Amino acid sequence: MKRTRIKELLETERRGIHVTAAGWVRTRRDSKGGFSFVEINDGSCLANLQVIAPASLANYADAVLKLHPGASVVAEGVLEASEGGGQAVELKADTLQVLGFSEPVDYPLGKQKINFERLRELPHLRARTNSFGAVARVRHLLAHEVHRFFHDRGFLYVHTPIITASDCEGAGAMFQVTTLDPHAPPRRPDGTVDYDRDFFGRRASLTVSGQLEGETYACAMGDIYTFGPTFRAENSNTRRHLSEFWMIEPEMAFADLEADAELAEAFLRHLFRAVLKHCGADLRFFDQRVLPGVLARLERLAEAPFGRVSYTEAIRLLETSGKSFEFAPFWGMDMQSEHERYLAEEVFKGPVVVTDYPEAIKAFYMRRNDDGRTVAAMDVLLPEVGEIIGGSQREERLEVLSASMRKSGLNPDDYGPYLDLRRYGSVPHAGFGLGFERLVQFCTGMHNIRDVIPYPRAPRLC
Ligand code: 4AD
Ligand code: MG
Repeated sequence: MKRTRIKELLETERRGIHVTAAGWVRTRRDSKGGFSFVEINDGSCLANLQVIAPASLANYADAVLKLHPGASVVAEGVLEASEGGGQAVELKADTLQVLGFSEPVDYPLGKQKINFERLRELPHLRARTNSFGAVARVRHLLAHEVHRFFHDRGFLYVHTPIITASDCEGAGAMFQVTTLDPHAPPRRPDGTVDYDRDFFGRRASLTVSGQLEGETYACAMGDIYTFGPTFRAENSNTRRHLSEFWMIEPEMAFADLEADAELAEAFLRHLFRAVLKHCGADLRFFDQRVLPGVLARLERLAEAPFGRVSYTEAIRLLETSGKSFEFAPFWGMDMQSEHERYLAEEVFKGPVVVTDYPEAIKAFYMRRNDDGRTVAAMDVLLPEVGEIIGGSQREERLEVLSASMRKSGLNPDDYGPYLDLRRYGSVPHAGFGLGFERLVQFCTGMHNIRDVIPYPRAPRLC
């Protein structure tokens, strides 16, 4: 079967050509004039192809008139200018073969409207809806543009491991990987579990970040990035958290926090422009059906310079805002989403880079500032979404790093290879992590992060 994708059929200027299209039925309408209109979609674009099936088809009564939403068909015939409104072309079928029928009594995606929550219970079917088809295409385009951006700038794509024995964020929110029997693990004489006898000969987990391994490659190859799945066993039931999400983490040698912030800004701008350029029809759909204004917001942010503010100044802005927050702001606090959104939405009216956070609320690897109480960290905040990027300049001084590990309750002996980078030719370096789903969420205007990844993983959801 040689089929042409519907996207291509709808874009071509040619008429009167013989073509084959295949897809899933969205609707069927029977006309008194002796034919049926069958709208089919194949996922290549938002729009459907209208197939005209004349009553003269041999299988008209037995098959065409039994077509319901969800059925799969192959139509071949002539592509012609459409007489009806709504579409430029239609396919006048010479044959309409049914590959698989679909029964309207069972099929959950019939004509009735169905909300996103209900669709979450149908992850195997929801890509057949307009919204999830559009999300899938935007997600693909953004992933592709991530690679293009870094490749064009000479960054090397490094595949960091998914199973690891170190806790990058030092937060302990890791999923354990083990082949030990949970009911009867081998024990040491003191009663603790004997991980020597586990699969890896030690305790292992799913990674929370590829950063530590990324740093080792940056400190040899210069500029690198990772793009892979990461896992967090936090009990966060919010519309911005997943237990499994994808993260993009660039890391640059010979770079400071300023270079890091510049890269973050250029990166986000590139992605906003790319999605505007390549996903016009899908973005218009989100603008009409999901979040009115999402398109104009993207257009504006694709050109706007990012705001810059230190954490200390940001707290002052929050304290003097006159706004009543659920959590009162104070220096030393970990900002809540309401604070991040206020800064991005009301103060800076666009993306803002917040730098130099208190040491006590940030990870052990961030470079200590001379003031002795803050570190060279940055978060990029967006309207609506809040934090989309977290990054920092890394602590490159061996003694300072060992001390801050101990302060965070980590044993420097567990991080030997990481410390080696500081023993042999240490260099200033910096990087960040961008949460891919938060990016897709922002570009599409989808309210819940669980609706921008094909199979969301969250507490009690797998
Ligand atoms: O701020 P985070 O925890 O930073 C790191 O993991 C660093 N190691 C990154 C680095 O410097 N290389 O996470 C980075 C980003 C966040 O800003 C957020 O966008 C996203 O990852 N993120 C999540 N996205 C969805 N669900 C979660 N549970 C997330 N946790 C973080
Ligand atoms: Mg963070």
